[in-house]
Amino acid sequence: MAARLSVLLLRLGLAVTGPALTAAAKMKVVEEPNAFGLNNPFLPQTNRLQPKRDPSPLTGPAHLFRLSGKCFSLVESTYKYEFCPFHNVTQHEQTFRWNAYSGVLGIWHEWEITNNTFTGMWMRDGDSCRDRSRQSKVELTCGKNNRLAQVSEPSTCVYALTFETPLVCHPHSLLVYPTLPEALQWRWDEVEQDLADELITPQGYEKLLREVFEDAGYLKAPRESEPTQQEGATRGLGVETLENCNKVRSELSEEIKRLTNLLSLHGIPHERPTAETSHAEHLGQQSPTEMTAEQLQGDPGLRGNIL
Ligand SMILES: *[C@@H]1O[C@H](CO)[C@@H](O)[C@H](O)[C@H]1NC(C)=O
Ligand SMILES: *[C@@H]1O[C@H](CO)[C@@H](O)[C@H](O)[C@H]1NC(C)=O
Repeated sequence: MAARLSVLLLRLGLAVTGPALTAAAKMKVVEEPNAFGLNNPFLPQTNRLQPKRDPSPLTGPAHLFRLSGKCFSLVESTYKYEFCPFHNVTQHEQTFRWNAYSGVLGIWHEWEITNNTFTGMWMRDGDSCRDRSRQSKVELTCGKNNRLAQVSEPSTCVYALTFETPLVCHPHSLLVYPTLPEALQWRWDEVEQDLADELITPQGYEKLLREVFEDAGYLKAPRESEPTQQEGATRGLGVETLENCNKVRSELSEEIKRLTNLLSLHGIPHERPTAETSHAEHLGQQSPTEMTAEQLQGDPGLRGNIL
């Protein structure tokens, strides 16, 4: 019964602590037959890990591709963590116990881009963790040797790794722009120009730039990573936008109604731009008293354009 409970806890990814673990910090992975294994019990622990999917293709700064196929490990307390760039992050419990835990903490998915610089590698779709998958963000920092320097778990089943490498020490080594094909650089140039000319908003700029990064394969479309969550979010946004649009539209027709009444009140001739406005005029029973014609003429904004 106790053994069954342990298996259950381990399947849930919960660490089982006990006196047996405390002394086991720097031991090698034990590869012995295991009668309670989840898949093939006669394979060593590491080989029984079942990745949920294949890693994404190699993308980003080409000088980092030489790290592909290599793995770097770090032993921290009772776990050995292994980072295989452009492939995966795994965790292996260091213990002689029969039910040592090993798991996939993420599979190479996409880059993290901040301020137009590659700042980290997202490894997602690791082993299940309640209703989610484990995921890891690997930050790349300059160091003398290739070395997995740090592992932490800032939130449940989200791991933060720091990988040191001399390959990112040059100040330009992680810039996004130089890695793009020419056609995408042109698109980026246009987006910059449009922002400078105020043809797009800062939000529009972020969105268009994200599309450039997605087309380059550096970022994955959100739909692919979190299908259910993202679908809901997108639908929510759509409704919100339509609502906003209707709200603005009804505010504007109220305003037109009000101003039209005001013009009539002061005997100023005006055109009726649409049938709807004239319809609205018939409906409008408000008679504004406090506004004056001067205030109306002084308004240079949207209202002026509409009338
Ligand atoms: C992790 O990546 C390494 C290196 O590419 C590979 O040998 C290993 O099979 C991968 N492990 C899993 C669980 O995918
Ligand atoms: C963004 O990058 C530019 C150029 O590399 C740098 O001057 C600027 O300080 C950075 N901004 C932030 C918020 O990191």
